[in-house]
Amino acid sequence: MLSESPVSPEYLSEALQLHLADDLVEHGWSQQNIFLPAQLTLELAAECRLLATSGALNAASVGRGTTQAIRTDIRGDQILWLKAGQSPACDHYLHIMENLRVALNRELFLGLVDYESHFALYAPGASYQTHLDRFRDDDCRTVSVVIYLNQDWLPEQGGALRLHPQGECTQDIAPLGSRLVLFLSADMLHEVLPATRDRLSLAGWFRRRPA
Ligand code: OGA
Ligand code: MN
Repeated sequence: MLSESPVSPEYLSEALQLHLADDLVEHGWSQQNIFLPAQLTLELAAECRLLATSGALNAASVGRGTTQAIRTDIRGDQILWLKAGQSPACDHYLHIMENLRVALNRELFLGLVDYESHFALYAPGASYQTHLDRFRDDDCRTVSVVIYLNQDWLPEQGGALRLHPQGECTQDIAPLGSRLVLFLSADMLHEVLPATRDRLSLAGWFRRRPA
């Protein structure tokens, strides 16, 4: 299931597309190390840090509508939603994800129509309790994506993404820079364990059209 080969930013190889798609169907999740080019990972990490120091990140909330609330005991990250044109690095990343969207549609006929994504920073001790990425009143989110932006992450620093695949063993995935994780938004229970250092990522969702 693991693959170590780097991916060209402009071109996702046929083999990688098939590997990601097969894993998603078979296991409900997939992982690719060194998915983003190293330089782009550095640029996105620097941008995330700058946004944090300039106060542009906001405490993430849970729930929707009247039940939406900031509950740092449930979810402790600080986020900023990406907008096209916000920086060359973000546009490069969004371009890579657009290629992935087209590839997933071609392999799996998922009818994915767009991609939404935010920077996330978990300060030391922050976590996100076990949850699904789908809202009760909105089933558009279909494939969840996380890409990590952390250089030199050590296992003892914690901060794993813990997946709870149905009928399979729990999987702990360390937030290593350039690593991609994909999973099916509707089914995959998951959580973020606390870390001893800042934990930076881009989280995103490929969405299909509302029913
Ligand atoms: C999320 C989430 C996982 C991670 O933002 O919904 O589950 O590893 N993130 O950051
Ligand atoms: Mn989630």
